[in-house]
Amino acid sequence: MSRTTVIIGAQWGDEGKGKITDLLAEDADVVARFQGGNNAGHTVVIGEDKHALHLLPSGVLRSGVTAVLGNGVVIDPDALIEEITTLREKDALRGEVLISPNAHVVLEHHRLLDAAKEETGAGIGTTKRGIGPTYASKASRFNARIGDLLDEASREATLNRALEGLKAWCKAAGVKVPDAKGVKARVGEWADTLGPYVGNATERLLDAVDEGENVILEGAQGTLLDIDHGTYPFVTSSNTTAGGASTGTGLPPASIDRVWGIAKAYVTRVGDGPFPTEIEGEAADHLVEVGNEYGTTTGRRRRVGWLDLVGLRWAARVNGFTDLALIKGDVLEGLEEVKVCTAYEVDGEIKRVPPVSAYALERVEPRFETVAGSFEGASQATSFEELPSGVHQLVEGIEDEAKCPVSIVSMGPERSATILR
Ligand code: GDP
Ligand code: IMO
Ligand code: MG
Repeated sequence: MSRTTVIIGAQWGDEGKGKITDLLAEDADVVARFQGGNNAGHTVVIGEDKHALHLLPSGVLRSGVTAVLGNGVVIDPDALIEEITTLREKDALRGEVLISPNAHVVLEHHRLLDAAKEETGAGIGTTKRGIGPTYASKASRFNARIGDLLDEASREATLNRALEGLKAWCKAAGVKVPDAKGVKARVGEWADTLGPYVGNATERLLDAVDEGENVILEGAQGTLLDIDHGTYPFVTSSNTTAGGASTGTGLPPASIDRVWGIAKAYVTRVGDGPFPTEIEGEAADHLVEVGNEYGTTTGRRRRVGWLDLVGLRWAARVNGFTDLALIKGDVLEGLEEVKVCTAYEVDGEIKRVPPVSAYALERVEPRFETVAGSFEGASQATSFEELPSGVHQLVEGIEDEAKCPVSIVSMGPERSATILR
């Protein structure tokens, strides 16, 4: 039976979306990214090989898959060319690539503006990939879309409009305006290299649904980084939640059958912003070192904390999760005590819904419970029954709060370290 499946990060990103997308892509015909850009870093481990994908969807490592970059994605052409080249050199690019002409282009100006904002002290700890300024110039209606930029007939007008808008922004921000000639010279190379991949991605996806193919829409970042539903202003600049899968591809909402939420057995966050269950000290160092919690894109040490069932319940409701995948339970092995946050205390009241304001979230006191069961042997388990009692208790707690089944439990980065229920 054909189906359209959306994959969403249930926390603040880096939940293991790449691993689960690659797994589910075994039966997929089309795998599409629908938002974000190369701020994402999705890891797929196949045998001895570890691949870090930033723009291409994780399904591109499977033959027979069409890997789509949807209209909602922002594309840095140099980064995309580098990613394609690296994968080709490793002989790992198996799928066919299709880029929506309506995807917006990240230019050098955007990256410089992003970095400059971070340096003013008014930043939020972005990845400095130019993502925010690109979405801002898209909304301001002067940005270049990749189809218009690579097509010779519309190139000049598209580029002039974008450069004019960006020049004004650079001047206002005190950023040295990059040389227009340099940018113009790059476009010819982008057109030669990426032009052949540009085509009607929305039509391809609509046809796939009509013809009963399996489609996966792979989210980037996570629910709590969503520009509308996340911890604004400490968020990314796109809709990372399930609704974004529709606007970012052109597939109607009703064509979506399943929405998978991917959650770590603890929580991580990169960059600034509130994080109620954050911890420091020995347990935090254990999570960072055993879990290898360093950014796939920027190499930054990730902030870590205990699993937050209030945040997860919110994510399940906003996205309408039909299934959850629980990742990295193996990392809890060896800890003296594992805690879970079951409620927030806000201004003296107990809440099971996060406050709307990120500033109020800063004032939240998390209520923790200690998981009574053990996590020893988690990484060796080959079936759900074999998993230690601590993992079973986590799964039960999550299912109670999220009101959807934990259908995959992952106990290691490799494809084989996955338990399907
Ligand atoms: P994504 O951005 O959501 O795709 O996640 P990242 O790739 O940024 O971070 C997840 C990290 O955890 C990667 O290094 C994965 O290889 C690794 N990983 C995925 N699943 C598991 C798991 O179950 N256990 C362990 N120990 N590592 C995992
Ligand atoms: P994946 O897809 C974790 C964070 C940044 C910063 C905020 C805004 O691998 O889960 P941006 O560069 O998007 O303007 O930065 O969002 N961020 C991520 N954190 N995983 C990601 O992607 C992220 N992409 C952006 O650290 O706090
Ligand atoms: Mg990541």
